[in-house]
Amino acid sequence: MDHWPTARVVDALCELDPEMGGQLAKAGQAFAKKRLRRERFAQDEWLSAQRRAVPKLYSDSPTPPRRSADPLRCARALLSSDEPVAVLQDLGERVRRSDWAPERVLAAWEANDPVFGITDHSVGGAVLNQHFRMETVLAGNFLSHTDSLHRFEVCGPVMATRGHLTDAHMDDPDIWNSCVSGAKVWFMTDSREWSREYQVSVRQIVEVEPLDAETFLSLPGSRWAVVTDGAALYCPNTYVHRVVTLERYVGFGTFCATRESAARLLRFWREHGSLFEADGSPGLIDGLDEAFREAA
Ligand SMILES: [Fe+2]
Repeated sequence: MDHWPTARVVDALCELDPEMGGQLAKAGQAFAKKRLRRERFAQDEWLSAQRRAVPKLYSDSPTPPRRSADPLRCARALLSSDEPVAVLQDLGERVRRSDWAPERVLAAWEANDPVFGITDHSVGGAVLNQHFRMETVLAGNFLSHTDSLHRFEVCGPVMATRGHLTDAHMDDPDIWNSCVSGAKVWFMTDSREWSREYQVSVRQIVEVEPLDAETFLSLPGSRWAVVTDGAALYCPNTYVHRVVTLERYVGFGTFCATRESAARLLRFWREHGSLFEADGSPGLIDGLDEAFREAA
């Protein structure tokens, strides 16, 4: 078995947080077994993963940059509007959410200081499409292609500096993350035990608990993956996740609801509600239902 990714993660986590890294190093083989294996991307296989709600790590990007993959250039392109950017800044055991001007985000990101990540910053599929070959993930995505749902579309930059740690949370639809540069380690589980809150990023101040490796390893269905240059991660909506930035990171994320996942998402939203609806966007569930029926 190739232990390099495990060793790399443990080393980096030991530097960031000796306790967390130490726990994972002690877990050794058990931790290595939970690693998501890299696969080459294939559209049919991805559709099947959506149907089965299985997370996937792809080694090659099906959404490569159209021009330069220079990280700073990508970061600039992704923050090209004047809109303020929602930032989660790490303050020890707390995270403060505030709005920063794009130039401030870029300067802090370039300096890799302070520790922060951006959240909920939408650039829209049309803008992303200018910079990346988005056909693979936008084709058939009801959230991007139906008139009634266009305003719910969330395609956005994913940027963070080294050491940023998210709280345990679920997003609403399925998630697609492509990495241009950097490294993030995702800890995921489809057990709800790990989720203290259904969603945390809407709150102003978030208490971030240390990552407890022992608990993570004991959760049913727990998996981890390193998303790095050129790789892409698919994470179904049912997976609670915590993400640590190991190396300054830039990429993009988008939410998906395709013909393979829409029925599952609708069932989930009818049972638990949708964050987008709760967030002041009524009509999402009925709109997706309608779009799905039309497409069927
Ligand atoms: Fe997330």
